[in-house]
Amino acid sequence: MENPFTFSNIVTGPYFCNRKKEQEDLLEFIRSSQNVLLYSHRRTGKSSLIKQVFLNIKHHSPEIGTLYIDLYGTTSEKELMTRIFQQLNVLETNTDKLLKLLKGSIDKFSFQISIDPNTSSPIITPAFKSANENLVLKNLMELLEKFSAKRKIVIALDEFQEVAKYTNADSFEKQLRSFIQHHSNICYIFSGSQQHLLTAMFQSQNRAFYQQAASYPLKQIETKHYIPWMEKLFDDGNFSVGKENLKKIIERFKNHPMYIQLFCFFLWRDLQHNSWTDETIDTIERSMIDQKHLEYQTLWDNLSINQKKTMKLVLINDGQNLFAAEALIIVNIKTASIVTRCLKSLSEKEILVKNGKYIIQDLLLKKWLALNT
Ligand SMILES: Nc1ncnc2c1ncn2[C@@H]1O[C@H](COP(=O)(O)OP(=O)(O)OP(=O)(O)O)[C@@H](O)[C@H]1O
Ligand SMILES: [Mg+2]
Repeated sequence: MENPFTFSNIVTGPYFCNRKKEQEDLLEFIRSSQNVLLYSHRRTGKSSLIKQVFLNIKHHSPEIGTLYIDLYGTTSEKELMTRIFQQLNVLETNTDKLLKLLKGSIDKFSFQISIDPNTSSPIITPAFKSANENLVLKNLMELLEKFSAKRKIVIALDEFQEVAKYTNADSFEKQLRSFIQHHSNICYIFSGSQQHLLTAMFQSQNRAFYQQAASYPLKQIETKHYIPWMEKLFDDGNFSVGKENLKKIIERFKNHPMYIQLFCFFLWRDLQHNSWTDETIDTIERSMIDQKHLEYQTLWDNLSINQKKTMKLVLINDGQNLFAAEALIIVNIKTASIVTRCLKSLSEKEILVKNGKYIIQDLLLKKWLALNT
C-alpha cells in the first residue's frame, strides 16, 4: 500500500483530517456571499481547506460555482487577471458558450484561446496592450458579475498578500474593491499567510480592503480530531501505533498539520522494517531535522551577526521579554534598538512571526537551532 501521508501537496478526502467546523463556517460565508479573510501561519492548511470545501460544493451543492485562483508567484495585476481568465472554463466548460459570453462582454481588447490537452477545456488568455489594463479589469469584473447573475459563485484568491507587493498595489486594490463591493452574489475568500501584509491590507483604515471581509484565523487541528484520523490511516496499512503514541507525536509537533504529516510519512516508512520503540519519535524527528541541515545552514549563513544573536535571544527566552538588559547581555547585543531592527527584518523574512510573543515559524528550524547554535 502506498504511503498515505503527504507533506508537500494540498490534501483532500481521506487524507484531509477533520476541520468539520471550519468547513461548515466557510460554507455559511459562501451561502451568504460574505467575503472572508482566511489567514494563518504558513502550512496550516488554508489551501487544503478551501479545496476540500470546493469539493464538497461540487458533490453536494453543484449549483454554486467555484473558482480557485492561486496568486503565488504573480508579480503584477496583469498576471492576476490572466490567472482568473484562465480559470473561467471551470464556470463554463462548454467552449462555444464560453466564447459567446466573452464576445458579448469583451469587445475592446483581444484574447487568445487554446485548448487544454488534458481536460479539453478552453483556456482564455487576454492580450494586454499599453494602458488597457483598467479596461480589461472592468470587463473581467463585469463578466464575473454576469456569471453570478445565474448562480452563486465563490472565488478564492489564495496567497492574496502577493497583491500588496505589486508595483501599483494601492491603485489596483482600490479598483478591485470598487468592483468587488458590487458583487452581491459572489463570495470572495481572500487567503494568505504573510500576516504583516494581510493585516495592513485589511486592518489599516487608509487601505482599500479595510474591513472588507470577515476575519477567519485558521487554528491548528485539535488532538481529539487527529487521533482517529491517524489511527485509521495506519490501520489501513496494518500498522498499530497506539493512541498514546499518536498523542505523543501530536504533542511533539504542537498540532501542526504539516509536521505531523511529515512525521507520519517517515513513520510509515520506518514501520515497514521496524516496530515501534520508545526511541522511535526521537529517531524520526532527528532524521527530519538532519534532512533540512543544508537548507537551514544556508539560511543561518545568510543572516547578519545581529540577526543571529536575535534568533538566539528568541530561542533562549521563548520569544518573550526580549528587551530586558540581562537577556541582551547573555547574547551580547549592545542596545534594544538593534533587537527592534532585527525582529522587524526577521519577521519580514517570515522567519519569525509575532503572535503575542515572537515565534520561530518553522518548528524544525527551531529544533535545528537548538542543536546547532
Ligand atoms: N486538514 C488536514 N489534514 C491533514 N493534513 C493537513 C491538513 N491541512 C493541511 N495539512 C498538511 O499541511 C500541509 C500544508 O497544507 P496547505 O498547503 O493546505 O497549507 P497552507 O496553509 O495553504 O500553506 P501555505 O501557507 O504554504 O500556503 C499539507 O501538505 C498537509 O501535509
Ligand atoms: Mg496555501
